[in-house]
Amino acid sequence: MSSLFTPLTLRSLRIPNRVWMSPMCMYSAASTGPDTGAPTGFHHTHLATRAAGGAGLVMAEATGVRPDGRISPWDLGLWNDRQVEAFRPLTEAIRAHGSVPAVQLAHAGRKAGTDKAWRGGRALGQTEGGWQPVGPSPVAFDGLPVPHELTVPEIQQLVRDFADAAERALAAGFQVVEVHGAHGYLINSFLSPAGNHRTDAYGGDFAGRARFALEVVDAVRAVWPDELPVFFRTSATDWLAENPADDREGWAAQDTVRLAKELRAHGVDLLDVSSGGMVPGARIGTGPGYQVPYADRARNEGGIATAAVGLVTEPAQAEAIVAEGRSDAVFLGRELLRNPYWPHHAAAALGSETHWPEQYG
Ligand code: FNR
Repeated sequence: MSSLFTPLTLRSLRIPNRVWMSPMCMYSAASTGPDTGAPTGFHHTHLATRAAGGAGLVMAEATGVRPDGRISPWDLGLWNDRQVEAFRPLTEAIRAHGSVPAVQLAHAGRKAGTDKAWRGGRALGQTEGGWQPVGPSPVAFDGLPVPHELTVPEIQQLVRDFADAAERALAAGFQVVEVHGAHGYLINSFLSPAGNHRTDAYGGDFAGRARFALEVVDAVRAVWPDELPVFFRTSATDWLAENPADDREGWAAQDTVRLAKELRAHGVDLLDVSSGGMVPGARIGTGPGYQVPYADRARNEGGIATAAVGLVTEPAQAEAIVAEGRSDAVFLGRELLRNPYWPHHAAAALGSETHWPEQYG
């Protein structure tokens, strides 16, 4: 019996297997007009196909909790009811294929308001549909505009924005909500000393830098049903401690272990362990499964369920990660773009049964 194809129950939610689709921005929502931020036919095909392909959970891309919190004007959002209505058939389609619909709630912080990734992702001016980025401190990311330093009332409004978006996610039919705390976006920039130079209650020591993340988690947990899980995606390291020649100050693996314990205590059910995106020019040691050791530490030292992500591409590799107790599940990104039916093929390779759509014979 394959471990990868054993169901995982978090709270009362049974997830049918442990191969999940990682959130991936598609830059394909309308950027103007009443349907701004609402999913389109493209998103429907894109996400429902991965559910038909056998992924046990399908996570919609980074979805803005407010219009000016998106990475680009073409990102999805959950700040109005029209978006809720547009998401509903999509979550129903994912469930109809036996998968679990999940959504990643995001604020892009100092990396907000940029062009589509495949056009280079440069900062868009206000006349091109861009907007003023915000952050814990007026520290720009790699040539992007200097962010507005958030005031405490603005921070508190952002906490409410995450909770409001979570309520809409529930109304739209999602069964898992993930708080995006990784990749140098707003929450990550509060956590890491590389982005957070504040001297008030939201900066300084670990507790100060983690305050915003935990307030967001508390606010989301307060509106999310007790029987459904909340995930948190983290950047486990800024990739500075791994490179002794780089003496910039940043977030390191032991901080993630500490954060994992805090998140667990605040009602987070699973830590989705990614890395990087916070410090420009950091040397990232990529390779097959390169972030798995961080998921392993968070799980086994931090005491929280984890999902590993990053260059997991082979069935035997994914199976070993779960079977060896290094992580409870794996997220696949690019491999599922290449092959939506990867989970069904992997199950066959590992001697497990999955159910292809009956229409496919
Ligand atoms: C991503 N990634 C990403 N991560 C995230 O947390 N939210 C997002 O919206 C996106 N968007 C996104 C778009 C595209 C086109 C790619 C390729 C990636 C990162 C992604 O979820 C995943 O963590 C990485 O791609 C590493 O996993 P793979 O691709 O090696 O399996």
